[in-house]
Amino acid sequence: MAGRGIATAFAYETGGPALTMDKLIICGGKPLRGRVRISGAKNAALAVLCASVMAGDKVVLENVPDISDVRDMIDIIRHVGSEVTWLSESSIQINPPPRLIADPPCHLVKKLRASNLFLGPLLSRFGFAKISLPGGCNIGVRPMDLHFKGLACMGVNISMEGGYAVGRAPSRLKGARIYLDFPSVGATENLMMAACLAVGQTVLENAAKEPEIVDLANFLNCLGAKVRGAGTDIIKIDGVPELKGCLRYSVIPDRIEAGTFLVAAAATRGSLVLENIIPPHVEPICAKLREAGVEIVENGDTLQVRADGPLQPLDIKTMPYPGFPTDMQSQMMALLSTVEGVSMIIENIFENRFQIADELKRMGVRIKVEGRMAVIEGVPELYGTQVKATDLRAGAALVVAGLMAQGRTGISNAHFIDRGYHRLEEKLQSLGVEVYRSH
Ligand code: UD1
Repeated sequence: MAGRGIATAFAYETGGPALTMDKLIICGGKPLRGRVRISGAKNAALAVLCASVMAGDKVVLENVPDISDVRDMIDIIRHVGSEVTWLSESSIQINPPPRLIADPPCHLVKKLRASNLFLGPLLSRFGFAKISLPGGCNIGVRPMDLHFKGLACMGVNISMEGGYAVGRAPSRLKGARIYLDFPSVGATENLMMAACLAVGQTVLENAAKEPEIVDLANFLNCLGAKVRGAGTDIIKIDGVPELKGCLRYSVIPDRIEAGTFLVAAAATRGSLVLENIIPPHVEPICAKLREAGVEIVENGDTLQVRADGPLQPLDIKTMPYPGFPTDMQSQMMALLSTVEGVSMIIENIFENRFQIADELKRMGVRIKVEGRMAVIEGVPELYGTQVKATDLRAGAALVVAGLMAQGRTGISNAHFIDRGYHRLEEKLQSLGVEVYRSH
């Protein structure tokens, strides 16, 4: 275990999988078969890592996925002042910084969208934060008005200074009643963290209900915070003067990675057992797959998925949890592309999430996109060709399409896929897929 820890730390120090091998080659046309273990949730791990800078003592996190977004977030935390050590392939220890730097460097913050989640913790702890407007996938405009409005209610003065969001609070933040116009995941997380060290009670109304919110609240409570109601649309946080450490916290499994494997199994008419699952978290995805005719059997923390024979077309609308997740929309589009009949997808969360349609068309998919609606007419088969990932989940959709297609599919910009899928090639290889990296 120690050896693997060193190897992982080394991979982290060198930036992980080399970008020079940025093309993923998949030889498709074979059903996926076998067992696969789902890794820790990217979005939960990122929020928990941000929250860790508020801890007063050592934190040990388990089930952390070793993906590039997590490595980038760890880089930021190190710059902020925390000491981070990989203890094994999936667990890390974070020692609180002796002195915190409240303006993480722009070139790191720009790498991932979730770095905006530092605003709440840094403001809450130091009354000051300066964050470059974050980057991430180009899937939509992604404003931060709800984060800023909520923080302003808590006494923060937010200004935009040359591409940076700068927050200043004259004293400790103060608890407030905040209504979110939209149940934004990021705004809910940022405000929940900001409220932990505020004076008095904060009530977040119309809060997001995603499982990652509940995971973050559980972690904060392990640190001694007082967060109640996470997972419902009203979250109440009673501020405490300080947070302590936490000697063991395990991040929830990744429902989107699980969903991607479920879809890949269905798309290749294969049969898989998925381990390390919290079944209710994937229910919005399973419900749609069952409607299409996929067989999914739940057994404790495993799911058995099987598809043989023709599937039915679907109508899908992406919605905040517990609706169908936008992060599974592209993969579902790939699956539906070979389902006989006409399927329809309405994307309600991110306006640019249909960029993937043009790439899928190169593989023979018939799609018509009109604003937020995509109409897919099933074709008998896809063919492998050269395609390009335009964002993380678009990359995942191209993997699904590549698994279905006859011949070889070369997916460039594979670094997008590395942002969110832990050891994807290894996992696919163990399920019988011929897949490798190339220049
Ligand atoms: C998070 C997830 C992302 C997922 C998304 C929706 C992380 C790191 N990322 O992103 O994978 O796809 O939730 O489930 O957890 N909005 C505003 N103003 C704001 C904030 C958001 O208008 O201040 C809008 C966005 O433009 C978008 C919608 O609200 O249309 C949802 O965004 P949000 O829930 O905030 O997503 P993220 O937290 O960015």
